[in-house]
Amino acid sequence: MPAISVTAPAKVILFGEHTVVYGHPAIAVPIHELVARVTIIPQPTRSGPPEIEAPQIDLRTSLDRLPPEHPIVRAFQLVAEALGLDHWPALHLHLTSSIPVASGMGSSAATAVALVRALSAFMGRPLSDAEVCELAYRLEQRHHGTPSGIDNTVITFDRPIFFVRYQPVEFLTFAAPLHLLIADTGVKSLTREAVAGVRQRWEKDPILYEARFKAIGELTRRAKEALIRGKIEEVGTLMTENHRLLVEIGVSSPELDRLVKAAVSAGALGAKLSGGGQGGIMIALAQPHTAHLVEQALYQAGAVNVFSTVIPAPTSHKAISP
Ligand code: MEV
Repeated sequence: MPAISVTAPAKVILFGEHTVVYGHPAIAVPIHELVARVTIIPQPTRSGPPEIEAPQIDLRTSLDRLPPEHPIVRAFQLVAEALGLDHWPALHLHLTSSIPVASGMGSSAATAVALVRALSAFMGRPLSDAEVCELAYRLEQRHHGTPSGIDNTVITFDRPIFFVRYQPVEFLTFAAPLHLLIADTGVKSLTREAVAGVRQRWEKDPILYEARFKAIGELTRRAKEALIRGKIEEVGTLMTENHRLLVEIGVSSPELDRLVKAAVSAGALGAKLSGGGQGGIMIALAQPHTAHLVEQALYQAGAVNVFSTVIPAPTSHKAISP
């Protein structure tokens, strides 16, 4: 049983967060610069429960000392069930992540995917992508309550996706690369709470909220066409329109609005919050020659961190069932 090291990327949602929970479409892409990493080292000279180390959260313990509802314990349980194992060999599991937590970049889903992949591969029986996706979803349910499944799906399959809940995932090919700036407000925000807030407001005024959800759904379908045809200006316009509707459903914040406004004023083609909102991150679509101006403007408007990434234009566009 050799040592194994597995990474899973961060993600950003380009269109359709929140309304994806209600069955409307959303578009998400993996972000490879930030990853969760799980390394597992066999300990053949020792017996006893797996040792767990996650230095960033000051965790150094053994599996049996963690509470049963801990996501790492659940990951061991789910993989053991899937593989039909009744015990784990002695091992040392090391978990790190460069993905900011509670920021809308999929930190919990990336950790879940990396844990499931690493544990099953370590046992010499790597699970398929579809199985990894399913187990990571079950871990996310513990963490988030009612996740749509978009985070674990884009992270598992590691490609741009057009996602509709309970439907086969559609992988997207963008006709032109996307130059994105990702800016962190520095305000931590729990997706679970943002999702619960939308649900409360929707229950109070379903007609108004259904209309807003529908508008985001339609805009997301237009964005998909614009992305696969390389109509970058239109993608930008739709992003800003999506942000406006996210403001209307109550998931923005003064910090996010300030960053969106600053990015657009500095020449971004469009900008919006991304993920759960109410803090966390926003994204701006730049052109290569304006990216540095937009970046400066984002820092001036209060971003605590800005990084730029390019979503490449890959090579195929087809529907595949996970
Ligand atoms: C979280 O990354 C995206 C939300 O739409 C929640 C979900 O889809 O589960 C806010």
